[in-house]
Amino acid sequence: MIACAPCNLIGGSPAFLAGLELIRKYATCDFAVLIQGETGTGKELAARAIHYLSARRDLPFIGLNCGALPDNLIETELFGYLRGAFTDAKETRIGLVAQARGGTLFLDEVEAMSPRAQVALLRFLQDKEYRPIGGAPVRNANVRILAASNADLTTLVARGVFRRDLLYRLDVLSLRLAPLRERAGDVMLLAEAFVARLNQQSNGPAKALHPAATSVLNGHAWPGNVRELENLMQREYLLAAGRLIDIPQFADHRAVAANGPEPEPFVIAKARAVAQFERAYLSALLATASGNLSLAARMAGKDRSDIGRLLRKHGISRTAFLATDGPVASEASRK
Ligand SMILES: Nc1ncnc2c1ncn2[C@@H]1O[C@H](COP(=O)(O)OP(=O)(O)OP(=O)(O)O)[C@@H](O)[C@H]1O
Ligand SMILES: [Mg+2]
Repeated sequence: MIACAPCNLIGGSPAFLAGLELIRKYATCDFAVLIQGETGTGKELAARAIHYLSARRDLPFIGLNCGALPDNLIETELFGYLRGAFTDAKETRIGLVAQARGGTLFLDEVEAMSPRAQVALLRFLQDKEYRPIGGAPVRNANVRILAASNADLTTLVARGVFRRDLLYRLDVLSLRLAPLRERAGDVMLLAEAFVARLNQQSNGPAKALHPAATSVLNGHAWPGNVRELENLMQREYLLAAGRLIDIPQFADHRAVAANGPEPEPFVIAKARAVAQFERAYLSALLATASGNLSLAARMAGKDRSDIGRLLRKHGISRTAFLATDGPVASEASRK
């Protein structure tokens, strides 16, 4: 598994790794990046990754959800205003561009900007200068612009609802995040990483995915992408009565087979299925044995050294499964 430590991105599929490589490259410069992808594919996480891998990492990362902003507020939000600039301006307010100074301004859901807001933003991007409302002198902006969109902006330009000149200013560098259904192998990596994180956050005994979960999770089309998977794992983790997390069948479980990606070569598909099975099996085994290696080996009918080797192969730590009390725990803690 590849995990990008400073940016919390998890994945190992070719599509994910290609995106990660671009993120790393884009972090070395100051050009605007347009991040496009379906909902839940990790656009905001990618924007944060670019910022935190860049030389601007110690300065602010400021986000603006363009979709949530009323048409007439874009300029006051971005540029701020001086006291008395208009009737309600009781105090001077610093805008997001000034708040992000030296850092990154992330414009989320740019596809939702009104024509008027698009003009205001375009003017700012052209000059890299702004003037707080109320007549203060023009100020230079030192911000890196990252933007995200759920919709394909080229299509919106063709339909006449998004300005072509604004698209060019935002889309100097492009990052397209693949939907989860096109990231072969990442579903299980992510599911297991989410369970590991939930185990760390919980005070109870460690839980693990039921071995049967693999085929259910891999058979789903994930229209909500990583967010859908993350939410599902949180829900099922909470609902699991014992130490094994069951994943109920999805209503659309045939969808991927019908519309999904091309089949891959047999050896690759088999190797992945075996690795997924081993990880799920080991996690379930350790959860049942409360992290006790000898007990786990006995239950599996394998040598202790074989189980140890498999755990190292998959980077699974048995300590995460140690029970906090009871006889098994005290036995385990002596190992
Ligand atoms: N590669 C990944 N590794 C780990 N977690 C991820 C990854 N991609 C996304 N996530 C998680 O999935 C959730 C959705 O990600 P994010 O908010 O970045 O998606 P988005 O593309 O901005 O979605 P939307 O278009 O709906 O705003 C977040 O909780 C995020 O932490
Ligand atoms: Mg988002």
